[in-house]
Amino acid sequence: MDLGAMLKGRHVLVTGASSGLGRHFAQLCARHGALVTVGARRRDRLEALVEKLLELGAEGAQAVELDVSDVASVQRAVAGASMASPLDVVVNNAGIADNRPALDIDEALYDAVVDTNVKGVWAVSTEAARAWRAAGRPGAVVNIASVLAHRVAGAVSIYAATKAAVVQMTAAHALEWARYGIRVNALAPGYISTEINEEFFQSEPGLALIKRIPMRRLGQLEDLDAPFLLLATDASRWMTGTCVTVDGGHTVSGL
Ligand SMILES: NC(=O)c1ccc[n+]([C@@H]2O[C@H](COP(=O)([O-])OP(=O)(O)OC[C@H]3O[C@@H](n4cnc5c(N)ncnc54)[C@H](OP(=O)(O)O)[C@@H]3O)[C@@H](O)[C@H]2O)c1
Repeated sequence: MDLGAMLKGRHVLVTGASSGLGRHFAQLCARHGALVTVGARRRDRLEALVEKLLELGAEGAQAVELDVSDVASVQRAVAGASMASPLDVVVNNAGIADNRPALDIDEALYDAVVDTNVKGVWAVSTEAARAWRAAGRPGAVVNIASVLAHRVAGAVSIYAATKAAVVQMTAAHALEWARYGIRVNALAPGYISTEINEEFFQSEPGLALIKRIPMRRLGQLEDLDAPFLLLATDASRWMTGTCVTVDGGHTVSGL
């Protein structure tokens, strides 16, 4: 089965596409001929990405300014994205981490992490699902969770809690929306090597962490491609409410 070919001509909205995983997913979709709308707060980065997506062969590519923690911004972005053509797939990728010990987290940081990671997924998913239901169109939602939805680590307490919420919201939305032909699944990546964490993973604690991954390496962005394509396309037509973990075995490491 050619998973990539199943994305051709589909309209995919990727949130948090101005860097990291979101940028990668947007490029992956573009390479397979999807129409891609990229959303995030940093407009300049999105404009540069759109140029790249067009080069990669996206049938169309566009940027929408989007703050997922602001419902009005989400409504504008989903409406703006859908003007070119109705959405087929929504990828809730925008996310931030707290990176502080629990006792050092203040209300502002708590709100920022919860509003981005949980309220953001809720706002974008429900906005898209309402439009799909009204139009009688099927749709697919892919929520980017994390292995920290299932296990814990130091200095990511709120992040871990929000990712567990994303997995549970995935199941709850899947249950309610299956009747409308809307599938909702989550992808839970383990530690993926990106520019942002490159330095940490060369340090002693970073190398120690890698040793705890049964497959003894970090994930590469490309390791997510096939699972992502599976969830984003009709290849997973009888899957909904699931969470697919892609982590080199990290969540099954021995205690
Ligand atoms: N990297 C990993 O190892 C890893 C592992 C498991 C899960 N994840 C998950 O993967 C997703 C992407 O992470 P990443 O590592 O690629 O991080 P990243 O490079 O920091 O990217 C985060 C993206 O989210 C966007 N964003 C943040 N707040 C936003 C908001 N309020 N509204 C709209 N966009 C917002 C940022 O864009 P702007 O700042 O321009 O808005 C950025 O494009 C996150 O959900 C993360 O939890 C990552």
